[in-house]
Amino acid sequence: MPEISSRPRIATLPQSVADRIAAGEVVERPAAVVKELIENALDASASRITVVIVDAGRTLMRVIDDGVGMTGSDLASAIGRHATSKLKKFEDLEELTTFGFRGEALPSMAAVSRLDVVSRARGEEIGARLTVAGGVVEGIVPVACPEGTSVTVGHLFYNVPARRKFLRSDATEFKAIVQVFKHFALAFPEVGWDMFRGEEPLYQLPAGEHRKRLAGLFGDDVAEELIEIKPGSGWLKVSGWISPPHLFQRTAADQYLFINRRPIASPRLGRAVYNGAEPFNTSGGHPLFVVLMESPPDRFDINVHPAKKEVKFADESGAFGSVFSAVRASVGAALQPPDEASRSMTESTETGTQRESIAPSRLFSGASQRSPIDAPPHLTPYVPLPRRHLAPRGPLMPFPTDTESAKTHSSPAVPLFDLHDDTHSEASKHLDELDAPTRPTAENLPRESDSGPPVWQVFDTYIVSPLKTGLVFIDQHVAHERVLYERALSAMEKTPWVSQQLLFPTSVQVAPEDVSLVEELTPLFLAMGFGVEPFGPREFRIRSVPAAVRISGERQMLLGMIDEMREGASSGADPRLRLAAAFACRGAIKAGQPLDKAEMIRLIEELFQTEDPEFCPHGRPIYHVLNRRDIEKWFKR
Ligand SMILES: Nc1ncnc2c1ncn2[C@@H]1O[C@H](COP(=O)(O)OP(=O)(O)OP(=O)(O)O)[C@@H](O)[C@H]1O
Ligand SMILES: [Mg+2]
Repeated sequence: MPEISSRPRIATLPQSVADRIAAGEVVERPAAVVKELIENALDASASRITVVIVDAGRTLMRVIDDGVGMTGSDLASAIGRHATSKLKKFEDLEELTTFGFRGEALPSMAAVSRLDVVSRARGEEIGARLTVAGGVVEGIVPVACPEGTSVTVGHLFYNVPARRKFLRSDATEFKAIVQVFKHFALAFPEVGWDMFRGEEPLYQLPAGEHRKRLAGLFGDDVAEELIEIKPGSGWLKVSGWISPPHLFQRTAADQYLFINRRPIASPRLGRAVYNGAEPFNTSGGHPLFVVLMESPPDRFDINVHPAKKEVKFADESGAFGSVFSAVRASVGAALQPPDEASRSMTESTETGTQRESIAPSRLFSGASQRSPIDAPPHLTPYVPLPRRHLAPRGPLMPFPTDTESAKTHSSPAVPLFDLHDDTHSEASKHLDELDAPTRPTAENLPRESDSGPPVWQVFDTYIVSPLKTGLVFIDQHVAHERVLYERALSAMEKTPWVSQQLLFPTSVQVAPEDVSLVEELTPLFLAMGFGVEPFGPREFRIRSVPAAVRISGERQMLLGMIDEMREGASSGADPRLRLAAAFACRGAIKAGQPLDKAEMIRLIEELFQTEDPEFCPHGRPIYHVLNRRDIEKWFKR
């Protein structure tokens, strides 16, 4: 990350230049500023901390605390390099209980921004205000202000254009700031936290218990289902929470590791959590986890990096083992056999509401039990399990079997789109087109029986059909992805899709930082048939879904698309293309899904009506032809 590879010797540089270079070590991006300011507030024993961010931190970052504050003379020295109230002599480093110890943060920020600190020390009558621009003190004046400190870092890197250029998109930088905020809010539930984007409140988290904090940050739905990692024994005490498999996420964004309440990044310990959670992870995805570690201070070193983020243990494999076993124990307990789990669940009754609890025994129900949900086998009981989280059995947008099955509502397969009746002959034509070294000739056409051209499904994943010149293998998932992608694009660009109103609109809760993203996407969602409208500060109501989407899959689908749109926000690609791809990926029939012949034929037909039947929107090949000549070579013909 440091951009200066062969750094000049600082001693030979003018002080102001040296300060700016050194600042880069501490202040590499807006999120790093927020981290330093929050740490200072916590070191000052604050019980309430407010973070205000304008323009993803480019224009302003302000952290307000009600901690011990500083006197006017403290203020003047605080921005001197190596001015710290926290470390008096080297040996103290061993015993350090504060975040700060270097006396670097404030001067580093002061060197590359317009810094404004207002503070009143506890017990003092009046406060003081210090303003600094580009490292030069502009003045200290007495002011009336509440006890505590407010530090404002404005116009970050205004005097270091090269650094400004390194900043990523606003969405990315802001996301990083929110991550810092969430980390500290998780580690310090006894502190009240507020976060504002401009004037808009994003998080308002009163001081309280850990569970409440989890709910405030991840939403009530998620918090109530997180599985507790029970504190173990040994020198490294590990506790925390981990999500059950149906709350696994597409990205590893919501993973939090702490040691002695310091947020850390440790790929190694992250792996220990994944390994511990392995019995859960039957379908891929990433667990949400909060893992809190407590260790005697002499067992680890956290100061190996200027940003104080990495941790080294005296006993690395012991640390790995402790994390692994704590996670595995809680995962194991959550997966305990149904009879044991159900003992505690006998009181669980059917209420008929969306938030109905399901006794674990029902998840394992045989035919004799009247379970409304046939849960996939990997959904094992941790209780209670609200019904809406159960993964659907089929694909979200099952490929239509035929027009008949659409009329009878017995099957989850609902037609996606209007389909022609002459499917069979169409599919033959397309298979035909595939034929020949390059493209088809009419003579290549396989003999068509009454029920259409010969097609088979192998491994429940590939559609195989003979051509005169060989055998074609079509990957059913990517083929359907290509079809849906082009249809979604045309819905956004040409004719919006017809949507079906939901009889019981469902609502989705999104993270506060995603609210504006969803608002921006609302018109595109609408073109695709998803009627989405605000419903509370961080909640949206889904009023309608594309006529083709199977009802009950919409929530998961929408959240998945939001996830993907947020992740790719910095790529600069056309949001319509990204949204169409996100939709297609989620809506497409999955690998492993058995298809009947009519479905396969219809898919082939639709595939070859797309603009690019060879590649899916992500660039994966859709089909492959095994040449007859190659087959003959096997047999030395
Ligand atoms: N919010 C605050 N409330 C009270 N005092 C503060 C606050 N922020 C900074 N200070 C004072 O200013 C000093 C300098 O802060 P600075 O962040 O530069 O250094 P540090 O926290 O001591 O070490 P580090 O560079 O490792 O963060 C601190 O030691 C502390 O005395
Ligand atoms: Mg500090």
